[in-house]
Amino acid sequence: MVKIVLENVTKIFTKKKQENKVLDDITFEVADGNFFGIIGQSGAGKTTLLRIIAGLEGPTHGRVKFDNTVVAEEGKIMVPIEERNIGMVFQTWALYPHLTSYENIAFPLRAKKMDENEIESTVLHLAKMLGIEEVLGRKPGRISGGQQQRVAVARALSKNPSLLLLDEPFSNLDATIKDNARSLIRTVQKEMLITAIIVSHDPADIFSLASDTLAITDGRNAQMDRTANLYHKPNNITVARSIGEMSVVQGFLTRDSRNDVEVKLGGSCKLGFRRDELIATAPGNNSDIRVGFRPESLELLDEKDISLKGSNDWALIGNGVVKICSYSAGIFRVLIRLEGLEDDIAVSSDVSIDTDSRISLYAKRHDLKLFDSRGNSILDYSTRTEKQGGPNNERRWISAST
Ligand SMILES: Nc1ncnc2c1ncn2[C@@H]1O[C@H](COP(=O)(O)OP(=O)(O)OP(=O)(O)O)[C@@H](O)[C@H]1O
Ligand SMILES: [Mg+2]
Repeated sequence: MVKIVLENVTKIFTKKKQENKVLDDITFEVADGNFFGIIGQSGAGKTTLLRIIAGLEGPTHGRVKFDNTVVAEEGKIMVPIEERNIGMVFQTWALYPHLTSYENIAFPLRAKKMDENEIESTVLHLAKMLGIEEVLGRKPGRISGGQQQRVAVARALSKNPSLLLLDEPFSNLDATIKDNARSLIRTVQKEMLITAIIVSHDPADIFSLASDTLAITDGRNAQMDRTANLYHKPNNITVARSIGEMSVVQGFLTRDSRNDVEVKLGGSCKLGFRRDELIATAPGNNSDIRVGFRPESLELLDEKDISLKGSNDWALIGNGVVKICSYSAGIFRVLIRLEGLEDDIAVSSDVSIDTDSRISLYAKRHDLKLFDSRGNSILDYSTRTEKQGGPNNERRWISAST
């Protein structure tokens, strides 16, 4: 195991005298034995960051430390990749096509001139752990994608690394075997006591593996936090959307004489907030803002139903119609359009709801997100002590299919 520290890492690529700042002042620490996530949109700089940690690139500015050893600083690499004791799994897995699975896994060990008996016992041990014993004699072209991925993991683990780096390792796998692959990686990382960093743009990878995560936007640190906090307490709209679906609608904020806040959405919806629920720098009276809704913090009700009316926890957002209802993994995703609002809102539902049904939309008050017009959160999350919603949140009655 090893602790990884990045201090003010900046990376500038220069091409034809044109400078391109790909990473800008990134600072974070991965504790010994932690599983750390890096999430961000395509081109955000995730792979570049991983390559700097690996030693395939040097930081233009800033410093990388493994425990207390400086491994790279200000454009210089002090400790090269082969001395960093790293296992890497790339998006493409990059197996050697002319070598059998056995030889692929053994490759780093041969490079280390390990004794043949020791190589054999290491390869067989890893193959057993990862369930690929039966494909050891076959070349990559003759095994499935899932098996290739496990061979790539075994190869990354064969020299008993203290750090495992994973760059979108599951993106070439079918959805059905992704969870098996994730669980396998988690088990191996725990059993072998390895510090691990996974880069992905898929929230499912990050949620299933990483306890802490860095969200990067355009090469900058957008939020470094417990993974669940990125979802429930995002710093801005980009972070919120990188870690899960969120619908955003326009709102208008007014303040009363006590500075308490009312947010008006299209139609007649008005949401009240105490002044201490917003940060001190939140916009003043008469400001355009954005309101964000996670799909599972919303409920669709038949317009005639009154079960949530009068509830303090739930706010009526408006009335509207169902545009489309699709299905995935036991959950229906319902896209609705509310009267007076220009943006569609996505809602999770346990039941199918007919297109064109008229519905009322309720939101769990404490799961609402508020952002200023530039997309930065204006909520003081420390005042939100109630249990957050989420995939496991208790569901209540839903039916709007009449
Ligand atoms: N060697 C290089 N020379 C010049 N520019 C580069 C180089 N490597 C990456 N870039 C640029 O840096 C930016 C970030 O690239 P990077 O591969 O780190 O993004 P990413 O977040 O991993 O994206 P993706 O999710 O698509 O894999 C991109 O604009 C890319 O074109
Ligand atoms: Mg990448």
